[in-house]
Amino acid sequence: MASTTTSTRRHTFLGAGLPIGAVSEKTELVFPDAADLNRAWELGFFYLKAPEHLDLDSARQFGRELIDDSSVYRRIPKYGELEGFIALENNQQTKLALRRERWDQHYPAHIAAFGRRLDEMGIAIMREVLRQSRIPEPLWDRASGGYASGGGDAFLNFVHYDTRHPDWGLRPHTDYGFVTILDASAPGLQIEIDGQFEDVPVLQGHLIINFGEALNFITAYSDRAVTAVRHRVLSQRATDPVRHGIVYFANPDLDGMLLQFDTSGSARGSSSVEHFFARLERDLTTYQ
Ligand SMILES: [Fe+2]
Repeated sequence: MASTTTSTRRHTFLGAGLPIGAVSEKTELVFPDAADLNRAWELGFFYLKAPEHLDLDSARQFGRELIDDSSVYRRIPKYGELEGFIALENNQQTKLALRRERWDQHYPAHIAAFGRRLDEMGIAIMREVLRQSRIPEPLWDRASGGYASGGGDAFLNFVHYDTRHPDWGLRPHTDYGFVTILDASAPGLQIEIDGQFEDVPVLQGHLIINFGEALNFITAYSDRAVTAVRHRVLSQRATDPVRHGIVYFANPDLDGMLLQFDTSGSARGSSSVEHFFARLERDLTTYQ
């Protein structure tokens, strides 16, 4: 297929033209060939083969059970605006959102363990981005606000969207953090490619990876900046009227700094994470 243009592949194979990566036994992000990696970096998007040890089925089951009004997990308290069981009346969305520090306290053990598997995958993706960027490895921890070495901030959220509502599921936006790992139960996600929104079909056994604004920011002066992909979710009536999603956000430490290293290890720019996210919020004013 070497002579086929990317554009033709994309339309002909409905999603098969989108790059697909995997996490190797050495916990490294790998692609079938360099062209796939190039495409992923250019789009800020790729599919990731779900590792066999990732118990996706039981995590989906947990998510579906949250729809039941009697679920004890709907009584998890809110912590600030971002955590706990949250009902967003205005766009028919409910979600259970918790950052890593609270997983053991509130999630059942198998879901906390599931989150830690996603941590491993998120770190593998982050380390490959930094490897490709040629930012010196001793700086990876600082460059990623601690995330590349197991710190930073991570959310594991279970999201439900009522597709009977005619409005947008999610308006066009970019994610704020480094990397988003998504498991969606129904079609509706679209990503922007060359100025046009294109469907991202659900690919069985695969997760969806988005690169976010913070990742774009920290690679800006490196050898290989990545794109933060614009995406949206259309409200589509699926066979099940409730669209379920499991979303993991890999973020920098919210109290920390984002530094823009070049390949010599010099910091060419910086922003506090708080200021960076506040600026995005002003610009985009959308939900993640
Ligand atoms: Fe998003």
